[in-house]
Amino acid sequence: MILEMCYYGDPVLRKKAEPVEEITDEIRQFCADMIETMQHHSGIGLAAPQVGRLLRIFVTNFSHEDEAGEFHLSEPKVFINPVLKNPSDALVERSEGCLSIPKLYDSVVRPLSIDVEAMDLEGNLFQESCYGYQARTRMHENDHLNGVLFVDRIKGKRRTQLEPALRRIKQQYAHKRA
Ligand code: NI
Repeated sequence: MILEMCYYGDPVLRKKAEPVEEITDEIRQFCADMIETMQHHSGIGLAAPQVGRLLRIFVTNFSHEDEAGEFHLSEPKVFINPVLKNPSDALVERSEGCLSIPKLYDSVVRPLSIDVEAMDLEGNLFQESCYGYQARTRMHENDHLNGVLFVDRIKGKRRTQLEPALRRIKQQYAHKRA
C-alpha cells in the first residue's frame, strides 16, 4: 500500500521517533509499505516520520556511486532502530533532496564515511561501513528520526536564500495536514 507522505511544515517531521519495541507482522507490513511508497515516488530513501509514524525505521535502495558518478541501486533495505557511529573527520559537500521537500535540492556538508548498526526485519543486528553517497543516504534518513531535515544543515546566507522556496512548499502542502 502506498502511504500518504508528510511534507515540509508538517509537525510530525520535527518530532523525535521512538524505538521499535517488537517486530510484529504489522511492523513488517509497514516496512513493505514504506518500500512501496519510496519506489512510487522514485526516492532512494524514506524514513517512517515522512509517512507520519514516529518509529525509528528507515528504508533505502541506494547502493553506491561508481567512479563515473553514476548512482547504483540495491534491493530495498530496512533499518530498524539504527545507530550511526564513527563519522569520519573528513567532510564532503554534495547535493541532496528529500521527498518531504519536493523539488528542492541543495548541497549539504556531511562526513565522508560512517558505520551503521541496525536491525533487519528478522530482528537480526547487522553492521555496515558506509562511504560516500551511501553514507550520506543513511545520515539523511537517520536525521529524519531525530526531527532533522537536510535544510537544517545548511547555514547562513544559503539557508536564508532557501526560505522563500520553503515557505512556498509549506503553503502548497498545508491542505495535506489535518
Ligand atoms: Ni528526506
